Amino acid sequence: MSQLLKHLKTIVGPKGWTSDKDVLEPHVNEWRGVFIGRTPLMVMPATTDEVSQVVAACAKAGAGVVPQGGNTGMCAGSIPDESGTQILLSMARMNRIRSVDADNFSMEVDAGCVLQNIQEAALDAGCYFPLSMGAEGSCQIGGNIATNAGGLNVIRYGTARALVLGLEVVLADGTVLNGLRSLRKDTAGYDLKQLFIGSEGTLGVITAAALRLFPGPGDLGTALVAVPSSGSSVSLLGKLKARFPDQIQTFELVSDYVFGLVDRHVPDASLPFDSNYPWYVLLEVATGSDPGSLEAALLDAIEQGLVLDAVIAKNSAEVANLWRLRHSISAAERQAGKALKHDISVPVSRMQEFLLRGDELLEKLRPDATLVAFGHVGDGNLHYNVSLPHDLAPDEYASDGKRITGAIYDLVAELGGSFSAEHGIGQLKRSYLAEYRSGPEYDLMRTLKKTLDPANILNPGKVI
Ligand code: FAD
Ligand code: MLT
Ligand code: ZN
Repeated sequence: MSQLLKHLKTIVGPKGWTSDKDVLEPHVNEWRGVFIGRTPLMVMPATTDEVSQVVAACAKAGAGVVPQGGNTGMCAGSIPDESGTQILLSMARMNRIRSVDADNFSMEVDAGCVLQNIQEAALDAGCYFPLSMGAEGSCQIGGNIATNAGGLNVIRYGTARALVLGLEVVLADGTVLNGLRSLRKDTAGYDLKQLFIGSEGTLGVITAAALRLFPGPGDLGTALVAVPSSGSSVSLLGKLKARFPDQIQTFELVSDYVFGLVDRHVPDASLPFDSNYPWYVLLEVATGSDPGSLEAALLDAIEQGLVLDAVIAKNSAEVANLWRLRHSISAAERQAGKALKHDISVPVSRMQEFLLRGDELLEKLRPDATLVAFGHVGDGNLHYNVSLPHDLAPDEYASDGKRITGAIYDLVAELGGSFSAEHGIGQLKRSYLAEYRSGPEYDLMRTLKKTLDPANILNPGKVI
């Protein structure tokens, strides 16, 4: 091991590594504090060539290497295990916007670029990069692509996968695979980049990406609306889709309980209503040349009983305030204590049934459980989290937690959904991947892993 560490330090140079415990601390802990890892060394290469040499050296020594972006992931995929033998590979120094091609609506970026910097560089060039989420000030595009992140604009623009035109990837033996092409059409053989999108660092290290840009969305109407039930949000979605076929940019459902957590734990974040309602939808619609169209649609929805109250933001400060409420949910939920997290998706057409049957399940299994639900209902993804009474004995928490999670995932599977919509698998959900994707699908995943990483050095212990 000491020979390898010496070699790695030489590859990345004095600015490119650390073994200082204090510096390492936030990099070996998963941000919610559930998983803690150890590493003898974090390397921070500055170029693709350095990444390639690092991975080749680890492969030769048989050492595991864990790629890390902003370490904002939800499934502990980006931290090393507890053995203290895995090398942590931080992409933070690879943060260059390589080029923007406004005529082609594309840009090439290093994998360590922070998402928000990419959004800003696109805007500076008169274009728009739509991937957006609460962690955008610290997550990196490499991490977004490696998790196939979703976020707030999927209903209109798709997940990270839909935004990638090409990738540069370092393979498990250090070979650089250069597929950094900015093409909309390319049928030359298998589309290899798709293998690495969503592979969570287990098949290759993404070092750069060619991204798809868009014209700006134009004027957006942003509103927070109160709805009588979670199911009625889905009816509202249907009505709005009929009126604004491809203009809905965001459609986020949030329970009153969840906004209560935000109110309690986040300073200066409060709802713009005088009274409380059971559920809310934060929505954003591209109103184009008809700025009054959102108000008219919401007035109709009030008449139809689908909306109880609504606030349309009048200026950028009010828009920012509404978004602050939404962006504060993860932090507020974390402060409120542990919960069973269920990042599920179902076809939007089955969402109402899921909501109804999910609530019945909880009532039957644990009537004193609290539903902590919020998420991207517009694209069929809900964070259907459940908080159990905090005074439960650890054994009861573990067994009831397992029972509830299993019942929710079984329901999701029955409805043709996924137990992991946008957060990936990491360390947290490996057993569920083996269970819910068993058979030829799981076998092919294992074959791919064995083929691309026969010595299992890339992010060992994650996903598969
Ligand atoms: P990390 O957490 O560092 O890594 C995630 C995984 O990708 C790990 O397995 C890691 O090994 C791998 N990886 C990282 N970089 C590379 C690379 N260059 N090459 C290969 N593998 C790599 N997620 C959503 O999908 N939607 C949301 O709305 C959303 N909102 C969030 C809000 C908050 C407040 C927070 C804290 C998180 C949120 N997330 C959300 C989760 C998280 O931000 C995303 O999963 C994000 O894509 C992770 O990016 P990262 O750079 O932090 O990756
Ligand atoms: C979100 O939608 O806010 C994220 O996926 C983060 C979370 O689930 O906490
Ligand atoms: Zn989410």
